[in-house]
Amino acid sequence: SKKRYPSISVLLTFMIIDLYGKAFVFLEETDTSYVVLSPERPLSPGAFSLCMKVASELPPNREIILFSYRTKDYDELNVWQEFNGTFTLYLSGPGVCFTLPPLSTLGTHMCVSWELKSGLTDFWVNGKRTIRKVLRPGHRIQPEGVVILGQDQDSFGGSFDKAQSFVGEIRDFYMWDYVLPPYLIEHVSHDHSFPKGNIFDWKSLSYNYLWCKDLQ
Ligand SMILES: *[C@@H]1O[C@H](CO)[C@@H](O)[C@H](O)[C@H]1NC(C)=O
Repeated sequence: SKKRYPSISVLLTFMIIDLYGKAFVFLEETDTSYVVLSPERPLSPGAFSLCMKVASELPPNREIILFSYRTKDYDELNVWQEFNGTFTLYLSGPGVCFTLPPLSTLGTHMCVSWELKSGLTDFWVNGKRTIRKVLRPGHRIQPEGVVILGQDQDSFGGSFDKAQSFVGEIRDFYMWDYVLPPYLIEHVSHDHSFPKGNIFDWKSLSYNYLWCKDLQ
């Protein structure tokens, strides 16, 4: 029988590099490769806009994690494609579901905004806004968690499920601690003159890229 060695993980050192024109590329379905992002300020915003360009050939009937922010005991902020092809923003349990065009290999520019006082939530696809819905008015997102792209965290920084992993490319990843007005979301979608992401900015993103392989 084949001798099995324990998994090894290779951690490329902590980097702050200019990612302009680049992308995080997730080549295959795994429960071992992911990107950990370090926010530029504590992630406990009273509002946010989160934007990224996502390209994928995963089918619309597969769960796909698009953004996972978790503190020790709670999923704080998650963005999913659901089994039924809808897209959901979850804040610590409750979520709001939106019907959006499917992801494709050609890339979709996607943003989601939320505001604490009103709970108003909307998605944006290629610079166009959905209807607005309400999610958890008054809810406070807790700081000091871990942000991961590529995998869903079922425990703090771990417990991944490959059937929920992201496969494809993510680029132009930004997050602001306020709701961007419509004209600026449109600018972001065209990559044309907009304010620096003060939580995450693609042009100065701090990240670790973990790539673990089972050596046989
Ligand atoms: C799709 O799935 C989500 C999550 O399970 C659920 O909240 C939503 O109601 C479903 N939508 C439809 C149209 O079935």
